[in-house]
Amino acid sequence: MPQCTNAKPESLPYRKSGALAYSRGYKERGGVVARGGLWFFRSPERLEEEIWVKVLVTGANGKVGGATVAALLERGHEVRSTDLRRGVFERPEPGAPEYIQADLTDAGEAYAVSRDMDAIVHPAAIPEPTHNSPHVVFKNNLMATFNMIEAAIRLGATRFVNISSETVPGFFFPEREFLADYIPIDEVHPIRPQDPYALSKYFGELLMDAAIRRSDIRCISIRPSWVQHEGNYERNLGPHIRDESLPSPSFWSYIDLYDLADALCLAAESNLEGHEVFYIASPDNAGGRDLAQMVKAHHGDKVEVRSLARPDASGTSSAKAERMLGYSPTRSWRDYLDDEGRLKPNVG
Ligand SMILES: NC(=O)c1ccc[n+]([C@@H]2O[C@H](COP(=O)([O-])OP(=O)(O)OC[C@H]3O[C@@H](n4cnc5c(N)ncnc54)[C@H](O)[C@@H]3O)[C@@H](O)[C@H]2O)c1
Repeated sequence: MPQCTNAKPESLPYRKSGALAYSRGYKERGGVVARGGLWFFRSPERLEEEIWVKVLVTGANGKVGGATVAALLERGHEVRSTDLRRGVFERPEPGAPEYIQADLTDAGEAYAVSRDMDAIVHPAAIPEPTHNSPHVVFKNNLMATFNMIEAAIRLGATRFVNISSETVPGFFFPEREFLADYIPIDEVHPIRPQDPYALSKYFGELLMDAAIRRSDIRCISIRPSWVQHEGNYERNLGPHIRDESLPSPSFWSYIDLYDLADALCLAAESNLEGHEVFYIASPDNAGGRDLAQMVKAHHGDKVEVRSLARPDASGTSSAKAERMLGYSPTRSWRDYLDDEGRLKPNVG
């Protein structure tokens, strides 16, 4: 444990920050780190480590937040987690991160959990619009993101990873249906949201644009495709594997939860400046079929088919994330499901 004092040290040698060590928020002087007005002496061993980024993960009891906490811990980061559920007065599981209950639509709670953080990864949200009233979805998601980016700026975090959604362009939950203009869908596709969820996510991205205009914080918005893991691959993708006539607004895109968590770690560690938006999808499509043929069969010439990285490509392009974040997915639905879309033995 670091020792703590409120006396500011004066003449200690400056320590060169590691590649992943953020300098704003903590003021470093050769082993001395300022947090909240107190000065902590880091052990010599700890100072040799390159990775000591302290990351807050919101929505940590959910699918994406939970996997991201695990991936960040695995990579050696310090993690604080937060969600709506109350914590318990018990000894934590070995290796479990700090946990603080907070409703992030409350500004005070958002500030309380965001203190002393280098980076904030923000998946907390109602993840789709069909199980709540429209205003509840919109208010929850937008106010939580507003409060979190506001707290991040005021309390000195240097990196904000905003979990947006593939639904931002608008053709997932529209009242008046329409199709994407082209595939693979990418970050420059036009945005025409109608529903409260897509709107809340689009407005969240606009909040990131505003954040970098008024501060030095660096923001990344990730638009994940439909998230799959051992517990839902069969239910969600199984029908698509068996039946190629089933439509999909994302053109059979999906994302493996653990590849997504790895991408969120890359985003938290990234030094990219400004605000960048990235789609994250698994490289193949659910069913592994020829995508151009599938689009033609379902939509005729209504959707332009652009250059595809492989015949069984995803309908969503992650090329920008591969190029700028180093996103390099390693998993596929085929690791979990057989050719009939049933869970393979020993998975899960
Ligand atoms: N699941 C998907 O297929 C998918 C696809 C694209 C984007 N996303 C986005 O990814 C993120 C995570 O989705 P998920 O699938 O893990 O959802 P989830 O429902 O499993 O987890 C979301 C978590 O956020 C918490 N939360 C919601 N509102 C909160 C608030 N006001 N304060 C504090 N915590 C709050 C919930 O309690 C929950 O634990 C969301 O932003 C979602 O919109 C999900």
